[in-house]
Amino acid sequence: MAERETWTTRIGFILAAVGSAVGLGNIWRFPFSAAESGGGAFLIVYLIAILIVGIPALLAEFVIGRRANVDAIGAFRAIGKGNWRFIGAIGVLASFWTLSYYSVIGGWVFRYVIGSATGSALADPEAYFGAVSVGGSSVLTHVVFMMVTIGIVAFGIERGIELATKFMVPSIVVLLLGLAGYAFTLPDAAPGYDFLFDPDFAAITSNLAQIIPAATGQALFSLSVGFSVMITYASYLGKDDSLGADGLSIAVTNTFIGILAGMVVLPLLFAGGLSVGSGAAEGGGIGAVFVAIPIALGDFSSLIGHTLGIVFFFIVLIAALSSAISLLEAPVAYVVDEFDVPRMQATLGIGGAAFVLGVPSAWDTAWLGWFDGIGVALLLPTTVLFVVIFVGWIMGEDAIDEIKKGMANGSFGNIWLWSLRTFVLVAVVVVFLLNIHDLFF
Ligand code: PFF
Ligand code: NA
Repeated sequence: MAERETWTTRIGFILAAVGSAVGLGNIWRFPFSAAESGGGAFLIVYLIAILIVGIPALLAEFVIGRRANVDAIGAFRAIGKGNWRFIGAIGVLASFWTLSYYSVIGGWVFRYVIGSATGSALADPEAYFGAVSVGGSSVLTHVVFMMVTIGIVAFGIERGIELATKFMVPSIVVLLLGLAGYAFTLPDAAPGYDFLFDPDFAAITSNLAQIIPAATGQALFSLSVGFSVMITYASYLGKDDSLGADGLSIAVTNTFIGILAGMVVLPLLFAGGLSVGSGAAEGGGIGAVFVAIPIALGDFSSLIGHTLGIVFFFIVLIAALSSAISLLEAPVAYVVDEFDVPRMQATLGIGGAAFVLGVPSAWDTAWLGWFDGIGVALLLPTTVLFVVIFVGWIMGEDAIDEIKKGMANGSFGNIWLWSLRTFVLVAVVVVFLLNIHDLFF
């Protein structure tokens, strides 16, 4: 068997992980869920969730991956022995599952780059979304998006994922900064910022039982925790740099990009005379970004509207792509590491299978909603719950050992493990139970 690859540089790993984290969640879900549930107040709850649940859980996945240096299922078997590998299996299933419909949405985004250039996406947004999000058209763009994803992952860690994300992530930041700068000049920037940053505490306190789990779930999804993806990425770490420092920079960058996206989306919506969560954002949120943004862009002169549309959807496209490659890498690593299948074959086989699984979602958005529901509400919290238990109790001292590497502060590891055993566990159990309740009762 060929020697296992590693990231060539520390920043290469960080950018790949940021690429995974920054995705449709930041741009498609975040500004809208923030705006719908209390604006700035949601933002505060979300930031707290990132800090006290998301980051500790992210570090737990990093610790498992770097300790084992093997795919996620193999990692649980190697460290935990026996049946713990089933946790890895749920995680790998979660990434494969999520990839199937993530690619469908990625395909729509690709379509919207073209539709913005020709103007057809901006002319009658509701009709356009209705036409491209279902049936053969949606299956076709799903194929295209999946093929590009496969094309990157087939080249492996260094020449595929690391090289691609080294270009993608900086492009996202630069282009978003450009759009945010432009949005700042709009007369309706101020109400947009108010919406995002002005905390509506009444909306929070009256709804705490719903907002806390929503924000926690969003924080975990946003950091790509609970999909075995971060375990897999950390398994390619060769050197023992501080995982805590890496995790922190990944989380900060991800949050920064989410807020930046809000500073683009909300002023645009207000400029278009739209409010979030009402009228144009109909369609269960799935269509929000695809309908509301084009409606808003339709109010600009056509040159500006087209240009903004191309840039905006191009940003979303590379954000989605850099997440999709991480979702594909987790199951690919499993097949390559466990069965010694050549990477090219593994990538084609798994990418092809995820494509097939995604066809119902491409055909009918009701299926997409169902897949998203199962993945985010069931598979994600199940995996996170067991990751926390696994690292907190099965690894215990070994986990502290691993997190301490490259770190000056000796007590961080103890605090972190204690946090996993206490409030992180409680938070994840609560999210898990509430989701089960919502799904089945
Ligand atoms: N974090 C990505 C987003 O916010 O869009 C979604 C995601 C990517 C989740 C990769 C999980 C994952 F493994
Ligand atoms: Na994200």
